Amino acid sequence: MSLVNCPECQQLYKELDEYIDSVKGNTGVLINVLHKAQEIFGYLSEELQQHVSEKLDIPLSQVYGVVTFYNFFSMKPKGKNQIKVCLGTACYVKGADKILERLQDELNVEMNEPTSDGLFSIHAVRCLGACSMAPVVLIGEDDYYGRVSPDEVSKILDKYRRAE
Ligand code: FES
Repeated sequence: MSLVNCPECQQLYKELDEYIDSVKGNTGVLINVLHKAQEIFGYLSEELQQHVSEKLDIPLSQVYGVVTFYNFFSMKPKGKNQIKVCLGTACYVKGADKILERLQDELNVEMNEPTSDGLFSIHAVRCLGACSMAPVVLIGEDDYYGRVSPDEVSKILDKYRRAE
């Protein structure tokens, strides 16, 4: 959708531009602006990176370099509830791959892509710092599920579906 025809997008870009104007010239401005852009839009599309490059007068290649270097930046949209499945050694030996498989079957979605309703996306991580509870799944920022079995997956997802 072109920006011209999307009042909501225009509003979001306006919000970002106001932030950019308030921090322009500060040190570390690019990372701060990218954080703000991701907070507003949810992810950093190519179009958005282009916009940041123009507004800050920084080459697009440099913006892209920073976005791809840090794993907290995402170039793809994520689901409302991000499901992080730990595939670290402790979790893997306790069957994390089976949890991942069940999640993908239940949600019918590829890794790192949002479900068609936008409610979930699945991401693999190396360790969630809770190895004693392996296998571990984290939903959102705080909902840790430990010693998860594949048969529990559906019940866990229902909790978030019901919250809608
Ligand atoms: S390896 Fe999974 S929480 Fe540490």
